Amino acid sequence: MGASNTTHEAEPTRRDFIHILATTTAVVGAAGVAVPLIHQMNPDASVLALSTKEVDLSALEVGQAIKVMWQGKPVFIRRRTGEEIKESEETPLSALKDPKARNANLAANADAEDDHRVLKPEYIVVVGVCTHLGCVPLGTSQGEVRGDFGGWFCPCHGSHYDNSGRIRKGPAPENLAVPKYQFVTDTMIRIG
Ligand code: FES
Repeated sequence: MGASNTTHEAEPTRRDFIHILATTTAVVGAAGVAVPLIHQMNPDASVLALSTKEVDLSALEVGQAIKVMWQGKPVFIRRRTGEEIKESEETPLSALKDPKARNANLAANADAEDDHRVLKPEYIVVVGVCTHLGCVPLGTSQGEVRGDFGGWFCPCHGSHYDNSGRIRKGPAPENLAVPKYQFVTDTMIRIG
């Protein structure tokens, strides 16, 4: 009988405990909802990290190109030879189909002279999406067709880009876009 009484008396205490536990969980749960809402209002470092990409160019040899992905888009980076730089710099604006720089680092009205397409003449950085209908042009990997102007070639409908990523022939209406980027060291860029 004594054991039964003890059990009977203990029950309310256990219920109280369960009630307190449930209340605490509800409060923590509400706080758990509030925290993500606050985070959505203030993008933290991890969100910012997703919107930018650092690329080490130290292993890129003169004449080589690479493709990296940034925000789901391909970005081409070519380390140009002296000849390629000279050719791009000497191309007159009158020879260009699109006279605008399309460089996110410059004012919208900047012209497409080669020095408005690069931050350092040695490296050209462009979004690898053809401005006609969005194919990914060839010319970045070793041995790929680079088109009549030595830059990139879009095989979908035959658009030719030069070594500055400027449209020179074919249906594409605009130069390949230059994304926002900066050099964080001599050989490291941060895109975005
Ligand atoms: S999508 Fe590149 S030429 Fe049409």
